[in-house]
Formats: sequence, structure tokens, C-alpha cells
Amino acid sequence: MDIDPAEELGSDRSHPARVWNYWLGGTDNYPADRAVADAGAEVNPGLPLMARQCRRFLVRSVRYLAGEAGIRQFLDIGAGLPTMRNTHEVAQAVAPDSMIVYVDNDPLVLAHARDLLTNTTDEGVTTYLHADVRDPEPLLDDARNVLNFDRPVAVMLLGILGHAAPEYDTMRSLISRLMAATCPGSHLVLVDGVETDDQTYLAGVERLHEVGHMYQLRTVGQFRACFAGMELVAPGLVPVTRWRPDDDEEGADAPCSVYGAVGVRR
Ligand SMILES: C[S@@+](CC[C@H](N)C(=O)[O-])C[C@H]1O[C@@H](n2cnc3c(N)ncnc32)[C@H](O)[C@@H]1O
Repeated sequence: MDIDPAEELGSDRSHPARVWNYWLGGTDNYPADRAVADAGAEVNPGLPLMARQCRRFLVRSVRYLAGEAGIRQFLDIGAGLPTMRNTHEVAQAVAPDSMIVYVDNDPLVLAHARDLLTNTTDEGVTTYLHADVRDPEPLLDDARNVLNFDRPVAVMLLGILGHAAPEYDTMRSLISRLMAATCPGSHLVLVDGVETDDQTYLAGVERLHEVGHMYQLRTVGQFRACFAGMELVAPGLVPVTRWRPDDDEEGADAPCSVYGAVGVRR
């Protein structure tokens, strides 16, 4: 049977990984993704900046984890398309023996996985799993082929659960099941959009829903509760732009409704 490549990649409808890639200035996206991304950005022109700020949070948090926290194993779930600086590049620049398992369920991310894996260090490991976070146990079983869960792992969930787990109870359950597989000293890195009084941000989210790009916001309290039983690394739960910002942080003084935090299991 012939497989229609458009059908295989689902390029006739928008996908979160590609909408995100477009806001980040990438080229791995299709007209359906650009139409959705542009519809949101017409209402909230700050969306591309917000996407860049999230990636910069990723860079700073991974740099912290590989450096100060001494983490050598990273499970980056909902990793997205290769873009800007990726987790393995940041971690292995600090600690060349870092091992990274990327996970995503987008067929185009799978098609690009080779780009993610090419420039790994000789000492380190970088692999990709095509898996769905909503089914964490098989994902963890596969990750165990590379990562040793008796040693600390950084579980990264950046901008994924608002898409993958709209119901808050599901979000909590997925995080608990993933973290239950880890040992003390393991970290959780979480980024998500929060309910805010920024009307432009809310209107942008609403417009995205109208065009089929679903993303569930959380309250700050719900976000914090995801770290139950963990200790938050300073500065705690803050807008991504305020988490250990670099001197040249873009838009650091402006309001930001996407929050980020790093927690550690004791
Ligand atoms: C907004 S992007 C964030 C990408 C990257 N983590 C970052 O912060 O730049 C969300 C990613 O989650 C992935 N994703 C959404 N639902 C998923 C699921 N159920 N299982 C695995 N990945 C999923 C999407 O394909 C997309 O790559």
C-alpha cells in the first residue's frame, strides 16, 4: 500500500512541535502550522519572544544541572524539533559524558532525530525515543536501556503537559509516575503557561484554541503542587525569564506568563 507522505507526517494539520518551531524562527513546519502560529501571534505578538525565552530557560537550567548539580543523565520529554541549542549540546558542553534521551511523539521530530544525534560527544550518549508521555511506563522501560535510574536523572517536561495532559489530575499522575522511577537526587524541570492577568496572553491562548491549538494553562498553585515531596532549587517557581537570568536576557523586565522551576527529590 502506498503511504501518502503528507498523511504520514500529518502535515495537513498543525502540530505543537512545528508551531513552536515556527515561532522560534525554524523552517521545519508546514502551511497548516504557520496559519495557526500566525493566528495566535496576530493577537499576541509576543509569542515568538515567549518561545525563545522558554528555550533560554532550557539552556540555563541544563547548564545548572550539568554543572552545579552534577547531573549526567537527562530525560527530555516533548523535546521538539532540533533548534537553537539543544539539551545534549548544553549538557555535554559542561560535562562531555552526559547521557541524553530525547522523547517526542511527533512524526516530524522522529524524521529529524538524526540531526539531534549527530554531534554527540565521544564520551556521552544521545538517543531518541518515539513515545507518548501519556503512557509513561513503556517510555521508562525504553529509557532504562540507556539511563541508570539508580543514579540521579533530570526529568524534563518543558511546554509539553499543557498539550499532552489538559486535565490537571492527569498532569499530576504523569509527573508522579515518571518521578517514582527515579532515585533521590533526581530533578524535575517543568515549564508551563500559567493563568495570568495579562489579557494579551490570555487572548492569544484563546485564539489558538479557536484554531485548534489546544494548550491548558495552570494556576501558579497547581504548578507548585506538581513539586510535592521535592525541594525547589532557588529562585523557585518564577517566570522563565527570572530563573537565573543571564546578563543579556531578552525581555527580562517585561511580564512573562510562562513559568519554570527545577525541583530535586530528597
Ligand atoms: C511547545 S513544544 C516544546 C518543545 C521543547 N520542550 C521546548 O521547550 O522548546 C511541545 C512538545 O511536546 C511534544 N508533545 C506533545 N504531546 C506529546 C505527547 N503526548 N508525548 C510526547 N510528546 C508530546 C510536541 O510534539 C512538542 O514537540
